[in-house]
Amino acid sequence: MAAGIEAAIFVIVGGRGDLARRKLLPAVARLVAHRAIQKQFHVLAVGRKDYTDEDYREWAREGLELAGLPAEDIAQWCRECLHFQSSSDDAGGWKAVEDKINQIESQHGLPGNRVFYLAIPPRAVPGVIEGLGGVGLNVGPGYTRLVVEKPFGRDLESARVLNQVVHEHFDERQVYRIDHYLGKETVQNLLVFRFANVLFESSWNREHVKSVEITVAESLGLEGRAGYYDNSGAMRDMIQNHVTQVMSLVAMEPPVKLDADSIRNEKVKVLRSVLPISPDDVVFGQYAGGTVDDEIVESYVEEPDVADDSATETSVALRLYIDNWRWQGVPFYLRTGKRFPERLTQIAVRFREPPVSLFDPGAASEVRSDAIIITLQPDEGFELYFDVKTPAADMQLKTLPLEFRYADEFGTLPGAYETLVEDILMGDQTLFVRADEVEEAWRLYQPILDNPPVPERYASGTWGPPRSLSLPHSTGDHWWVDD
Ligand code: BG6
Repeated sequence: MAAGIEAAIFVIVGGRGDLARRKLLPAVARLVAHRAIQKQFHVLAVGRKDYTDEDYREWAREGLELAGLPAEDIAQWCRECLHFQSSSDDAGGWKAVEDKINQIESQHGLPGNRVFYLAIPPRAVPGVIEGLGGVGLNVGPGYTRLVVEKPFGRDLESARVLNQVVHEHFDERQVYRIDHYLGKETVQNLLVFRFANVLFESSWNREHVKSVEITVAESLGLEGRAGYYDNSGAMRDMIQNHVTQVMSLVAMEPPVKLDADSIRNEKVKVLRSVLPISPDDVVFGQYAGGTVDDEIVESYVEEPDVADDSATETSVALRLYIDNWRWQGVPFYLRTGKRFPERLTQIAVRFREPPVSLFDPGAASEVRSDAIIITLQPDEGFELYFDVKTPAADMQLKTLPLEFRYADEFGTLPGAYETLVEDILMGDQTLFVRADEVEEAWRLYQPILDNPPVPERYASGTWGPPRSLSLPHSTGDHWWVDD
């Protein structure tokens, strides 16, 4: 058992949903299987269905087996530790949940530590928080923690209102806003990479860095999520949260300590230093038909439940500037998109050219800027590109990488939800987004959301509309992957 994890009950509101089955239950079951948490750990799924504990265990078991967990271990764990309570949104419904919690706690001798994980659509979140607060489930005999999934609001105003609702019933110290990118091992490693290695940190600034690029590309399309995505789009779905979180970790100053607030203070400072983004520096795209992974795929507007005239963006590329001492004048390029040629999350930090060039790269030279490429997924690792002389040839240069791959050294990495669930149980808020941080991230993009550019079409299987590909050219930059 990991030090600091106490016996608890983990309540999944929306326990019959896709997130619970695909991510949460497998994450919890893996933690149990690896002995990170022990048996006195119970999961209570809350849903609208009229299920018994047994019905739910059967449903969960299938999901857990699909997640590749050993059937025997799962059966035992489900039998002993999984429970279900059907609930309505009214006070009676929440009272029933409270009774069930009390019953499980007294039957198994639990100390009253409770986590409420809201795995429900965003529109249902305020009502559930009111419901929990209304029956007094916001405080308990032990600790009580509230976990809210992304998206947190759909703009600055709704995020503020949601924060108010949360704070009416819960103290910020109880609140865990999830951005699952922060749970990825490679994203956390950014802190170690930057602050444990003087070599990199000493050149991590405007003196040496020419540009920073963060690409979060997906080859997948809508995957049947039109109901959510068509009202959201890539800006709200990816840029405001995942991409911006990665940017904050790349750009932040060293924290005073490695605790949650010290780190989050530095991340917020980055967001507050971003200059207003010029509308000319933002390109929205929407995928047309094309070929991805050798398969012919249809356009966004042909996806089920998407209107023919939908103006939802499925890709965003933008340039912004962080106006502080470290980064003033260095362009940050952020981009994301669905139906890009491959799944790839990558940071490219390009270094400036030497102030005086002694070497005239001849026609046969293959020279790029020196760069650090950090691949967050898949094929996690990094490369440091630098120039070498091609042997025998007459001062012809070639840019080559020194490489490190996680898989070679560490094998399979733990999933993000496993890390995040463990941190919630440990009471460590470092990898969770604080109230002011989420609002600052919305504030940054609000002018774009207020006046969104018209999405330009791009063929599925390409890196976005032509104008997004040429966006960096005006400052003499290039996207690393298209270079
Ligand atoms: C989710 C978005 O938050 O992240 C999805 O809603 C996206 O649209 C997903 O596909 C990407 O996550 P990952 O971990 O597969 O990169």
